[in-house]
Amino acid sequence: MVLSLVSICAREVVSDHSASPCWLRWVPRELYRPLLEAAFSGCRPLAVGELVQRWPERTLRVGGRRKQGQTAPNRLCIQALLLAVVRGLSDQRYALQVLDLCGLQGDEGGMGDPMGGWSLTVALCTMAVQAKAGAQRAQRREGERERKRFSALEREKDVKRERGQWKRGKELNGDGMGTDNKDLSWKSCGVLSEEEVIKGVRRRMEMERKRESAVAGSGGSRKETESVNSDVLVHVRADLFVNARSWERVRVALNTSGPLKLQCRYLRVEEISVSSIRTLLDLLPRQGLLGIDVRYSNLGVAGLAELLPLLSTFPALSSLRLHYCNLDFRRDHPGQEEALRDLSLGLTTLQELRRLSLTALRLPGQLRVLLSSLPQPLEILELPYLSLSPADLAYLSCSHHASTLQQLDLSENHVDQTTLPSIRRLLSQASSSLQHLSLSGCGLTDGLLGLLLPSLGGCWALKSLALALNPLSMAGLMDLVRMAVRMPSLRHLLYPNPLEDYQPGLPDLPSSAQLLDWPLDEATDINTTSSQLKRVLMDGGRSDVFLTCDLLNYDKDLVD
Ligand SMILES: *[C@@H]1O[C@H](CO)[C@@H](O)[C@H](O)[C@H]1NC(C)=O
Ligand SMILES: *[C@@H]1O[C@H](CO)[C@@H](O)[C@H](O)[C@H]1NC(C)=O
Repeated sequence: MVLSLVSICAREVVSDHSASPCWLRWVPRELYRPLLEAAFSGCRPLAVGELVQRWPERTLRVGGRRKQGQTAPNRLCIQALLLAVVRGLSDQRYALQVLDLCGLQGDEGGMGDPMGGWSLTVALCTMAVQAKAGAQRAQRREGERERKRFSALEREKDVKRERGQWKRGKELNGDGMGTDNKDLSWKSCGVLSEEEVIKGVRRRMEMERKRESAVAGSGGSRKETESVNSDVLVHVRADLFVNARSWERVRVALNTSGPLKLQCRYLRVEEISVSSIRTLLDLLPRQGLLGIDVRYSNLGVAGLAELLPLLSTFPALSSLRLHYCNLDFRRDHPGQEEALRDLSLGLTTLQELRRLSLTALRLPGQLRVLLSSLPQPLEILELPYLSLSPADLAYLSCSHHASTLQQLDLSENHVDQTTLPSIRRLLSQASSSLQHLSLSGCGLTDGLLGLLLPSLGGCWALKSLALALNPLSMAGLMDLVRMAVRMPSLRHLLYPNPLEDYQPGLPDLPSSAQLLDWPLDEATDINTTSSQLKRVLMDGGRSDVFLTCDLLNYDKDLVD
């Protein structure tokens, strides 16, 4: 990573916190951003707090996509940031209106003590509730001050009135001067206009605030109109992660109308019921929700069908991911056909859906019901552990999604002679769009892979290919890598350990679970395999392809 001169200087400046009171006042606004970045990367929570509390722009974006090798911001720094925003709210001059924390979460327990999505969500909810309480306290104080000011004015008027009466009395007694009288009328005029000035300023501020929140939340629904009338000062956008332990807190925070308004980009929920998910969705602002990810929740087909009409009220929703949601389809259960029809009907309303991930559902033969209802062709389709039937794959290869797919994950679905033609047709349909493909754990033998290679080789846009946990021999792997040499866009290839590298005793056609668990032969050096494969790549002039058999550390997202 090459550092700019500004960022090197910024690091130096934030490293000495004791000096910050001296320089902070003189920092031009253009330097706040590099200073804040330096404070985050140098883990300087105090500097983060001071910069954020004086943030000179309307928008502050922290997080987003991290560059390779960049760690997520440290937890203490994030806490300092949130506290500083709440402090800033009580400052009339505070410019901040939008705090964008999307993508800020890291992996809990990762390098540099980042904040995970769950903790960040809880912290944001606490912050929203605290901000509301703070605003109420301030309002009470302001009301008190206002009352005092008013009674002081009243007192002053009374005093003046008395004095005037006294003067007028003197006038009547004949010793008054005309100038005094003029002076008095000027003064009482001044008192009145002062009162009016105060009122006018307050009214103007209120109107301004209303106009601003109208601009920020320009949506049509009744909910949005309500929020326009509230006192939102800062809109906070983030990815939220909610489970049973945090649901209540999130519900309260989303239902709080205070100076901070939470908005969600990606919502991930885990282990909570359909009705609790409904409650959350009801409370979320309609604009801006791009995706929802439901995990380990016992939805069932009927539960998902119940949620879909609600999901369709989020106009930007483009991603739906369901992992282990018990969407089993059992023909022998009463009401299942009906629930499936509702599900299909609900899916027709997801106008913007581009990504669908379904993990571990047992819906064999029902893929057509799910996917044919979607109004738009999908770009990302993840169907791992789905026990796809030959009918499912045949449908997929002819569906309106086939030619737009950019990412396809069919891992852990069994491929054999009967389904191979469908996979080949699917690949040829997707050949110009497909960038990421996973066929890990699909039971691909040397013979099956040999039949698939021409179709794979035709995918000229393919950047990453994952084929882990397939029973391939060294000869099969060599064929694979020779083909990889001819794939112009390929950058990442995850290959399986060849059968020769396992200890003796592996069954003839091992399952992916057996390939995962069976010990590798200590005697064979895995470097031999990898260096043999790398040599093929080098000889083909393809040093740009990253070759790995490390299943756990494989991340196709590093390719982009
Ligand atoms: C939200 O708060 C209002 C009162 O402010 C309450 O009536 C309503 O039930 C709450 N809704 C939820 C879903 O918590
Ligand atoms: C295998 O390769 C790694 C990294 O290239 C190296 O550190 C290790 O020493 C090699 N192992 C053997 C047995 O050569």
